[in-house]
Amino acid sequence: MPSRARRFSTSRLLFGGDYNPEQWPPEVWVRDVELMRRAGVNAATIGVFSWAELEPQEGEYEFDWMDRVFETLHAGGIGVVLATPTASPPPWFTRAHPDAMPVGPDGVRLSHGSRDTYAVSAPAYRSAARAIAQRLAERYGNHPALLAWHVHNEYGTLDFGEHAAAAFRRWLQRRHGTLEELNRAWYTAFWSQRYSSWEDVLPPRATQYIPNPTHALDFRRFSSDEMLDALREQRDVIRAAGSTAPVTTNFMLPTWNHLEQWSWSAELDVVSVDHYLDTVGPDGEAHAAYGADLTRSFGGGEPWLLMEQSSTSSTVPGRRAHKSPERVLRNSLSYVARGSQGALFFQWRAPAAGAEAWHGGIVPHAGEDSRSFRGFERLGAALASLAEVAEPPARGPLVEADVAIVWHAEGWWATETAQLPSDRLDYSAAVRGAHRALWQTGFAVDFVAPGADLSRYRLVLVPSLFAVDEAAVRGFEEHVRSGGHLAVWPFTGYADEHLHVVPGGYPGRLRDLLGVRVEELHPLADGERVLLSLDGGEPLSGRVWSELVSPEGAEVVATYSPAGAAGDLAGEAAATRHRVGAGTAHYVSTFLEEESLRRWTTSLCEQAGARPVLDGAVPERVEVVRRRSANGEHLFVLNHSELPVRVTGPGTDLLTSVSAERGLRVEASGAAVLRTAGREGWSVQALPA
Ligand code: GLA
Repeated sequence: MPSRARRFSTSRLLFGGDYNPEQWPPEVWVRDVELMRRAGVNAATIGVFSWAELEPQEGEYEFDWMDRVFETLHAGGIGVVLATPTASPPPWFTRAHPDAMPVGPDGVRLSHGSRDTYAVSAPAYRSAARAIAQRLAERYGNHPALLAWHVHNEYGTLDFGEHAAAAFRRWLQRRHGTLEELNRAWYTAFWSQRYSSWEDVLPPRATQYIPNPTHALDFRRFSSDEMLDALREQRDVIRAAGSTAPVTTNFMLPTWNHLEQWSWSAELDVVSVDHYLDTVGPDGEAHAAYGADLTRSFGGGEPWLLMEQSSTSSTVPGRRAHKSPERVLRNSLSYVARGSQGALFFQWRAPAAGAEAWHGGIVPHAGEDSRSFRGFERLGAALASLAEVAEPPARGPLVEADVAIVWHAEGWWATETAQLPSDRLDYSAAVRGAHRALWQTGFAVDFVAPGADLSRYRLVLVPSLFAVDEAAVRGFEEHVRSGGHLAVWPFTGYADEHLHVVPGGYPGRLRDLLGVRVEELHPLADGERVLLSLDGGEPLSGRVWSELVSPEGAEVVATYSPAGAAGDLAGEAAATRHRVGAGTAHYVSTFLEEESLRRWTTSLCEQAGARPVLDGAVPERVEVVRRRSANGEHLFVLNHSELPVRVTGPGTDLLTSVSAERGLRVEASGAAVLRTAGREGWSVQALPA
């Protein structure tokens, strides 16, 4: 990660969001700044979709309106996150450069009419993108209101056209070297797919039967790298123009899995994310924490930024679920607690029309005389009272975690392949399930890349990373040998980086470390459950998957019970523990259901000596997170439950300035952020309604 110098401001938390002045007449801009000041907004992301306004004809630029927007915001004390508008080229661009429109896997070339319509490998697109970024950097690169650069918007358009094909071949030559090696890696002897010329190699376009999984995976890798090149180009143009403002681009979670975030994060001054909860209720709260922990980890535990979250409603299947101001506050504090330098929203003012007219805004269609706008005024006041949280500690992470979960986008890409032993294999669900279990039991969680240094973690979880390379295996072995605990889910390590199954029994390269050999896979039917009998205690239950496991050095800690759907696996090993060096490697051969997963991870944490955020029980649906800063530590208490709680301990709530020494009442759906005078002596108890 580049030096701190270019980080976001550390004197306050940012509050605001996407602002699209090009959709409104200038008199509304003036009114907007008045309302922004009233709500405590201090940051506006502008220009995201302004290309057509800034360059109405090729090479003809119009910046006067943007100058006025900058001046209006600056005069109101509102900082600017300036986007480069390259996610949505104007209609004239399509006619001038039809080859720069993306082509789908079916060969259909897309046209303008929505957004994200560009072929990222097309030279015309890349040069037009560099040109507009350069113009913006020359004009605004050192404007006093400029807080940061927001390059592009949510990179993620895949292209299967000719420009992509040529760039893909060049990428494959760098990765595999020879056509021989490509044929080996892609296992092209299968189904007579052997390539005898590089010119025959194409993106994985529509084909008659099942596509080649390794071909598809390499194309995912290529597409992420190709878009990353486009980002680097714009970043370097901005730097060359002399702008020192931090550069970021907004990742998208949860379903937008087009980028390999670790390699991308290394190119950014600060990592930022758009996080849209795809569920409401308890899962939504767990999801916010998941997105925050993942994003903080992409940035190496450093400050990051929530660039977008929904303002008044969430997109859930079939509808927009209303989001109460209390939930908006708790979600925003969840992101800040986990390292975000603020809470930005999509968007400031709800659009009057267009494809997202119903996506809401800080200023809803009903205007500022509304319950939700008043809720944002309260949020603005709350974030302002937390300014001391913003300055990161001189040393060490913002959030200290004893537990880490291994994450890699390729784990997801590898399970997108057709014809896996079960359609229910779901990398993202396995990772979110592991995180949720730790979230529910009050443990702070980091995410790590395969092969990363694991020395600061007591427990590392590896949910269903199908393909692992040698470096990752070495990292896991080192962690265990030096005293760490490692816990591995089924469908992990079966294959190498080319998705070739490692022969001799699953889990391939992890057999020795786990001390097991899996001979048979027994995927379960929907609704089928297996029960795992433990020595003492309630059995665990699993779904989707079971296996014939032969211990080879490992100790059996659970067996398949004849009671469930184990069939002829009844009595066989189902979960194991293998002591290696000073540490222990744990294996479970089914996907544990939620309650069982919670019990299993709690037992793993105890065995590994991992500490929860707070010793002592915390009522269900009450979240406690500790964030470190240059101004001491802050304990965030988010009460998602229906009952009030009492927080007691050596500290003062910044939201109410009330001491918690003799107990502080936090209402149902409420929150507290305590400047703590020590880690010991804290408790959270449920109170009667
Ligand atoms: C994304 C985009 C925004 C908008 C929101 C939807 O995050 O960046 O432009 O489309 O989703 O609310």
